[in-house]
Amino acid sequence: MAKRHSSLTLLSRDHHHGLSLALKLRQGTRALLSDGWTHDPVRQVRRVLRFAEEELAPHFAAEEEALFPFVRSRIPDLLPLVERLTGEHRVLEALLAQLVNAGVPPPPGLLERIGIQLELHIRAEERELFPACEAFGEALDEIGNTVAMVRSRETKRRHRALFAEASVLINVPTRAIFAALLDIERYGSWWPKTVVFIPTGTSRGVEGAGMDVTVHRRSIAFVLSEIQQDRFIEFLTLTGDSRGSMRWEVADARGGRMVRWELNIDLEGGRAMDAHLDLAQAAHEALGALAARVSVATTDAPGTPTDEGTS
Ligand SMILES: [Fe+2]
Ligand SMILES: [Fe+2]
Repeated sequence: MAKRHSSLTLLSRDHHHGLSLALKLRQGTRALLSDGWTHDPVRQVRRVLRFAEEELAPHFAAEEEALFPFVRSRIPDLLPLVERLTGEHRVLEALLAQLVNAGVPPPPGLLERIGIQLELHIRAEERELFPACEAFGEALDEIGNTVAMVRSRETKRRHRALFAEASVLINVPTRAIFAALLDIERYGSWWPKTVVFIPTGTSRGVEGAGMDVTVHRRSIAFVLSEIQQDRFIEFLTLTGDSRGSMRWEVADARGGRMVRWELNIDLEGGRAMDAHLDLAQAAHEALGALAARVSVATTDAPGTPTDEGTS
């Protein structure tokens, strides 16, 4: 990509990331498995939605609040182009909303369409809009700070509501911890009682199995998106006005097993959950007690459960 005016370098760097994702989406099963890319559609959806939330949305905001107003006031000839590009932002947002609402697996062709649309949009900005802006030289300096400020504000705003974590050391075999984590029907016995868990799907513990969770009268559906036995479990949530992921990772530690829980979720009115999330640490202590009971129940089986595969 061409060397850019300093006011456009952040946006151009975003474009570089966007193009690399767009290429993988466009290539489908021919895409190289580099940069942690995967051919598993569930994980692809997760990656795309994370990109949309953390990179694309702040990028669009920076363009629409800083760059496009500059072009409108300084380069009237480019008015139709700016209107077209703004329209393309809305098209991309609509395609991403379709992806959220459809759940997993995504409808055939949707990821590819997002890739094509994203690539065309970025190329139009890099080839048509940015060179025309750069012809304005010093005048372009004045928007550099606003681009950076809007982009950073939107990135922070999105990250703030999203994250909660808890860690607990449990001195039981890893398998007992996983048995407890996969026993969705019993979540109510260790998770704070304001939460109702209703398992969905027929089989437990396999990708695609799910649960409906009620938190503060808000219903969220979680789908088991990834499991590596004895290492981690990740649920994805894609319904309604929320999206995100919930992940447990188990690792050997001094004195037992360290269970680390991480919730990344974008809930409108996320503040209502804060008090509830304070209970997460206590919940995981209770998980430890449940896993210990599972462990006791299994010690009668021949041999002691081992912890292979946790390193
Ligand atoms: Fe754009
Ligand atoms: Fe852009």
